[in-house]
Amino acid sequence: MSTKLIAPSVLAADFGNLQRDLEMINNSEADWFHIDIMDGVFVPNISYGMPVLEAINRHAKKTIDVHLMIVDPDRYIKEFAALGADILSVHYEACTHLHRTLQAIKAEGMKAGVAINPHTSVDLLEDVIGDIDLVCMMSVNPGFGGQSFIENTFKKVKKLKQIIERNNASTLIEVDGGVTDKNAARLIEAGADVLVAGSFVFKAEDPTQTIKNLKALVNS
Ligand code: DX5
Ligand code: ZN
Repeated sequence: MSTKLIAPSVLAADFGNLQRDLEMINNSEADWFHIDIMDGVFVPNISYGMPVLEAINRHAKKTIDVHLMIVDPDRYIKEFAALGADILSVHYEACTHLHRTLQAIKAEGMKAGVAINPHTSVDLLEDVIGDIDLVCMMSVNPGFGGQSFIENTFKKVKKLKQIIERNNASTLIEVDGGVTDKNAARLIEAGADVLVAGSFVFKAEDPTQTIKNLKALVNS
């Protein structure tokens, strides 16, 4: 079995001590930096934008996984590539021409991801699964950190895994929202490859140890 990955969400970091928190992730067993970009239109919240990502990219020594919660993401693909994104995920619900958007992301040298809201069926991805490097499956309604995990996600992960296998695709499944040590093992069992964790990591007394424990839990 391939190694399962942990992607701490920088949204839950202390922005007054951003460099400290980025170095914590660099020096931990985490695999990726998960970067949540919200525009206040696609989701009812605004997070941070280009200048902050530029600063993150200056310090981050691991894969930068950008989750765009914005309308019409095609407008910014080139810019996110220039800002150091390694993986760029757009929302299924925000793309009229998803196939074209995925090709545009790859043309800029990034891995192409598709994020889906809790209400969006994984079946909608079947015809494009071979073009998707990563599915970011939302296990909360996007827009805020610290929400509780939606239980139906386990079923969706299993179903998506079947679609990936049926199509001989190499798509990774990432689960995003409300991930803790209570649901991590079951998510991996269902077929997840990458777990995003915001509050669970940053609200912990010892974030480095929490990442280490989570990583051990999902790889045991
Ligand atoms: C929610 C974001 C998530 C969020 C996860 O819209 O996409 O990445 O930061 O945070 P937690 O782990 O606190 O649910
Ligand atoms: Zn996210």
